[in-house]
Amino acid sequence: MKRAKVAVIGAGNVGATVAARLVADEVGDVVLVDVIEGMPQGKALDLAEATPVGGTSVDVSGSNDYGAIEGVDAVVITAGIARKPGMSRDDLLATNAGIVKSAAEQVRAKAPGAFVVVVSNPLDVMTYLAWKVTGFPRARVFGMAGVLDSTRFAYFVSRELGVAARDVAAMVLGGHGDTMVPLPRYTTVSGIPITDLLAPEAIARLVARTRDGGAEIVALLKQGSAFYAPGASAAAMVKSLLRDEKRLLPAAAILEGEFGEHDVCLGVPLVIGAGGAERIVELKLTHEEKAALRKSADAVREGIGVLKSRGVL
Ligand code: NAI
Ligand code: 2OP
Repeated sequence: MKRAKVAVIGAGNVGATVAARLVADEVGDVVLVDVIEGMPQGKALDLAEATPVGGTSVDVSGSNDYGAIEGVDAVVITAGIARKPGMSRDDLLATNAGIVKSAAEQVRAKAPGAFVVVVSNPLDVMTYLAWKVTGFPRARVFGMAGVLDSTRFAYFVSRELGVAARDVAAMVLGGHGDTMVPLPRYTTVSGIPITDLLAPEAIARLVARTRDGGAEIVALLKQGSAFYAPGASAAAMVKSLLRDEKRLLPAAAILEGEFGEHDVCLGVPLVIGAGGAERIVELKLTHEEKAALRKSADAVREGIGVLKSRGVL
């Protein structure tokens, strides 16, 4: 059987971590592409040299030439600049829009049949941009943020309750930014909603820490932003896609009426399988949750508006 092949564009912290996960889990062959000469080749060789000891059989290569992505099944776009202390994700907009636009043009030209998972920030706006520039159907372009925000929320809940992290399933919707919408009602420990297990004040504290989760790590690292949890999150999405696992994951999708939103990209519960973003699962939201999601969609629209006003879109 032919092995799947994944291109990871941007071989920096997140890109290399996604690649390492895909190689370790034998999801498919991996090609790393970056503009820095020698760097994707060096990281690819390093990853390839780990396959005998890891007991995996996949090919890993690196290139500075987008020609290397021809024929891949999936592309993960992590190219761009990362946050530094004091920067919000939106501060990355102008620089990353140029980078993501050029990457998406290359994907359209060299891998017209591929699925695209966007990681670069600001995530929801960059996913919308990649969708527009590739011209691919919305099922083939989606973004990673909700899996990360949810795994952070789940981790904080597990520590608070002293339960196994793997028993916590969290749900965070909305844009990947200050307006993200963690949903305690849909966050459970082995099926029990955390609203039955924690006091409202404790939940509010964990929700706030989740919203600030990216900034907390930026403040500690001082040079760049998180990459282990983001890399694991993007790899989980690629795995669900290429192995047709049909996992229901919170992820950024183009909305055409779902949750009452049109022509915007936003984190929603998404079934990811061989057809890509196969199905958006609409949840029953309270009045407050709906209002929070609308606010988040408006914040993403603002970013899209900036790109339109600058002629990028
Ligand atoms: P990094 O700086 O370590 O890596 C970015 C890489 O992109 C660099 O190696 C750079 O040379 C490369 N690059 C720049 N222009 C390129 C182009 N035109 N083609 C190919 N490669 C290009 O940054 P890191 O930490 O890997 O983060 C990458 C992006 O992912 C950032 O925008 C960051 O904010 C975002 N991010 C998003 C998350 C999410 O939840 N959606 C979580 C973590 C990071
Ligand atoms: C994060 O949430 C910076 O978006 C990145 O860690």
